[in-house]
Amino acid sequence: MNTKIDHWENVYRKKQESALSWFQKHPTPSLGLILEFNRDYAAGIIDIGAGSSRLVDALAHGGFSDITLLDISNTALALSMKRLGEYSNNIRCIVDDITSWNPQHKWQIWHDRAVFHFLTEKHEQDAYIDVLVRATKPGSIVILGTFAPDGPKTCSGLPIKRYSGKDLKKRLGPGFDLLKATSYTHSTPTDVEQKFTFVVLRRR
Ligand SMILES: C[S@@+](CC[C@H](N)C(=O)[O-])C[C@H]1O[C@@H](n2cnc3c(N)ncnc32)[C@H](O)[C@@H]1O
Repeated sequence: MNTKIDHWENVYRKKQESALSWFQKHPTPSLGLILEFNRDYAAGIIDIGAGSSRLVDALAHGGFSDITLLDISNTALALSMKRLGEYSNNIRCIVDDITSWNPQHKWQIWHDRAVFHFLTEKHEQDAYIDVLVRATKPGSIVILGTFAPDGPKTCSGLPIKRYSGKDLKKRLGPGFDLLKATSYTHSTPTDVEQKFTFVVLRRR
């Protein structure tokens, strides 16, 4: 029994999409940052821990042609595929744990909203960064969103690690240049404010 998979499968099987604390109708600021740092609609983009996020809808409807979603929950990705209808035909889905995934491809844009912050142990963070390096190439853009130092201490009932932009740059290490760090306040479906940090990094 894998408790990580069980946790996330239960979440997506039992809760309505719009009841999830991280639910967003519009994928702000993710989409804005992707468009600010990339104007190549043929660029390969991967959303790590995509869940049932509507970022994929915005990307696919906006003209991005090479989109991959990865999540530990098959149910989450299936929800997005169903919602996308015929647009789903061009989306690649990968069901795997990001800390043990073996990437077979390199992406130009790596996006992660609220996944890296679940990795509270150094060895898990190291494993994530190792996968990130293997799945990208020099020049690739990396967008990470985590809870901020004054954000919540848990997410989906699990402990998380909070980061400032400087913390994220330091944790990712010298292989990445920091292009932008910004704060964002997410309002949950029950109107609770959650402070996020978003960074954009370029792989050296
Ligand atoms: C807080 S949700 C965020 C979902 C999505 N990024 C969004 O912004 O709506 C975290 C997501 O990460 C996925 N996840 C958690 N741990 C993971 C792991 N180790 N590998 C891959 N996905 C993971 C969960 O299934 C869930 O969909």
